[in-house]
Amino acid sequence: HSLKAVGATHGLLTGCAVNVRALRDDKPYAGLVASQSSILVAENAMKWQALHPAPDTYTFEAADGLIAFAESHRIKIRGHNLCWHLYNPQWLSAIAPGQGSAVLREHIERVAGRYAGRMHSWDVVNEAIEPRDGRADGLRNSPWLTLAGPDYIELAFKTARAADPTALLCYNDYGIEGENEEARRKRQAILLLLHRLKTRAIPIDAVGIQCHLTAGNPNAFGPGLMDFLREIRGMDLQVFLTELDINDRQLPADQATRDAAVAGTYARFLDLVLTEPAVTCLLTWGITDKYTWLNTEKARPDHLPERCLPFDADYKPKPAFAAMRTSI
Ligand code: XIL
Repeated sequence: HSLKAVGATHGLLTGCAVNVRALRDDKPYAGLVASQSSILVAENAMKWQALHPAPDTYTFEAADGLIAFAESHRIKIRGHNLCWHLYNPQWLSAIAPGQGSAVLREHIERVAGRYAGRMHSWDVVNEAIEPRDGRADGLRNSPWLTLAGPDYIELAFKTARAADPTALLCYNDYGIEGENEEARRKRQAILLLLHRLKTRAIPIDAVGIQCHLTAGNPNAFGPGLMDFLREIRGMDLQVFLTELDINDRQLPADQATRDAAVAGTYARFLDLVLTEPAVTCLLTWGITDKYTWLNTEKARPDHLPERCLPFDADYKPKPAFAAMRTSI
């Protein structure tokens, strides 16, 4: 059985982030993605830098292609993302601060408006909280803070709702899962933000937990995360696990050892987190080790290719796949 078949029996959407170039050029990859997924998200193709290369230019071809693929296979689609401090076009850093709100609003109207009625959800704001930046409200020193002021988050959610009233609107972030002080502070600051949004009746439907985890770290997740998820449910919000991958950076080179440890972490994590009824959707950040951002952006010290996803570089299922199937 596929992950999507197992997920369907439990009312859980399952899927992955998609490399749109591979989706077009690599048929076996496209087949694998379609066979396992009831929901997809573009790994990069719907970010600002991909969609909006110049102030008056939008490039929708890649995103349109992914959405057409999803629709032809009756797979739901998430949008990622409408507002982030990274992966922005160069021109954005050159606009006058007074123009930030108008530029953000225009982009969201254009992008969310284009796909209105066809999206399962949007990551409206990504990674806006960073307690280490020292602000009382927990906001990250993002270019958006400078360009549009601290209300940019509210502006983004309101604009997204107006542009696409049927998409679920999501706040997405990382570094939330751990049993450590830094993650605790992040969870606290995110809850503060969510309360602020709720109090002001800002439209938000879900919280995305990225779930970039490390195998072999006993404090990678735990009861603190579960308390946080329960609080989110108490605010009538859904939880999406949006970018799960489990790196083996801290493990020795032996492949069988690495695969067993990664699979064990998938199993323990899902066995814990899927006990929370607010969790309605689970996406891994990629599906095959052939295309994982970790190889290029966070390589192992010995530079061996990562074994972080359910399928290997030849699209064969790994112990992590079996673990996911059992634990979903
Ligand atoms: C990453 C992609 O995987 C990379 O290909 C790209 O170079 C940078 O972005 N959190 C997020 C994702 O919200 O958008 C990031 O994706 C991974 C971390």
